[in-house]
Amino acid sequence: MRADFADKVVYQVYPKSFKDSNGDGEGDIQGMIQKLDYLKGLGIDYLWTTPVFLSPMNDNGYDVADYYKINPQFGTMADMDMLIRECNKREIGLILDMVFNHTSTDHEWFQRALAGEKEYQDYYFFKDGKPDEVPTNWQSKFGGSAWEYVPSLEKWYLHLYDVSQADLNWENPKVREELKKVIRFWKEKGVKGFRFDVINVISKPEIFENDLEGDGRRFYTDGSHVHEHLKELVADTGIEDMITVGEMSSTSLENCIRYSNPEEKELSMCFSFHHLKVDYKDGDKWSLIEPDRMALKKLFEKWQEGMQQNNGWNALFWCNHDQPRIVSRMGDENRCWKESAKMLAAAVHMMRGTPYIYQGEELGMTNAHYTDISQYRDVESLNYYEILLSQGKTKEEALKILASKSRDNSRTPMQWSAEKNAGFSDADPWLGVPENYKEINAEKETKETDSIYSFYRRLIELRKEKKVISEGSIEFLERENADVLAYKRAYEKEEIIVFNNLTGKEITVQMQPEWKEYHKLLGNYPDDSANIDGEKLVLRPYETLSLEA
Ligand code: GLC
Repeated sequence: MRADFADKVVYQVYPKSFKDSNGDGEGDIQGMIQKLDYLKGLGIDYLWTTPVFLSPMNDNGYDVADYYKINPQFGTMADMDMLIRECNKREIGLILDMVFNHTSTDHEWFQRALAGEKEYQDYYFFKDGKPDEVPTNWQSKFGGSAWEYVPSLEKWYLHLYDVSQADLNWENPKVREELKKVIRFWKEKGVKGFRFDVINVISKPEIFENDLEGDGRRFYTDGSHVHEHLKELVADTGIEDMITVGEMSSTSLENCIRYSNPEEKELSMCFSFHHLKVDYKDGDKWSLIEPDRMALKKLFEKWQEGMQQNNGWNALFWCNHDQPRIVSRMGDENRCWKESAKMLAAAVHMMRGTPYIYQGEELGMTNAHYTDISQYRDVESLNYYEILLSQGKTKEEALKILASKSRDNSRTPMQWSAEKNAGFSDADPWLGVPENYKEINAEKETKETDSIYSFYRRLIELRKEKKVISEGSIEFLERENADVLAYKRAYEKEEIIVFNNLTGKEITVQMQPEWKEYHKLLGNYPDDSANIDGEKLVLRPYETLSLEA
């Protein structure tokens, strides 16, 4: 079993929205430094910051123009060095985000390719062709074709994401060497780990062909050389003992076992997203359906048990800068805001894996509730708004979909206090603050013992106190009951049973006779008056209850 990061918790910061120190309406590195004591207070071990490198910011930094320079909007290299130092002082390890599937088209390599240098054209995928002969029918993940034509070169280039994000050719050894240099540079600076952006799409097929069944993803997802490339990158940069997490797009359990099994010497853990697609209709993110709770449970069972059997390791998470807020999505932010946010937290933090908390999640921050397209900034949301209209949706329908699905829902400014702009900035923030910041903010919640913040703190503490949480085995219970996510964790003589009512109604679950002797370890209802009624346990709306042997 892999225990290296089993008792650790990672906190993710989206710097542009975390804390503005210089009054320009955008967060920055000095802002992060100001809030390190807040993070220390929460009890986290690692701080992952999304990219702060030089970038035209078409995709908010996931379009890197220079991996060795800091975007002036976020600060300077001196600020970055200070952030690393200040993190180390507090025993918080800094994790940087490596966007290695693509570079910005502003990157010098791409610019030299455009200027006609063959050597740099081989850093990317350029294909000869006429303007009306797109090389394949592959689709960009942000909508439209994955190919863009460059008239001056009479060539097309591949971009699986935005047109300003050109895919790198990992089959070219020079590209791999360049990327290793980037890792070594940051490792030497004292960074403690890396998150690898969409790392499972880096290995493209030798021959590019039309996908007659889909959008092309089956040709490059977990591609044929991906494991080989990862092993080489890790070995040649000496990062096998650091925390490394790969973001895996449309991946499989089998591949994630290989990516994260320590014997393979690839990564420490993976983000997979299947459990966050249970509210997509037929795989379409831009649809509106209620989350399928049974599907959610089956996915957790499959991934938790599958990783456990094969010595893989999960990153546990609900939220990040690409996902709508979980309390709005699977909880009830109106009627049971606090209860449902806590239940959702416990549901993943008590599982087997390394938990990740995305900024503001620990406060129960909600979706943005924007009502006008002018309020959105995200490139994907703006693209899809047009696509939805072109598919015949009305403006109201398209806005309703964005209000539930847009990535901007998670990118709103961090709600620090009840002051102007939620205490995020003195200036108008780059993206609007949700109206609820007077009730939902860090200043208030850090003072309250029963706040969502305090509950997250307790979850982090418990993972450090109890081996049964960090290292125990997991077995799912109540498998046929869609309303409750329940599991048993066990380690030597220790045992914990975790129940999570996924619904807003009262439900009952079966009790085993021996559980009656167990005591309550954690719950989200202040009184214990409930719950055991004969052979049954009654769970109140969104109740989470952990019983310990
Ligand atoms: C990842 C990032 C996302 C970005 C995309 C392209 O999915 O999390 O924000 O847009 O990769 O780099």
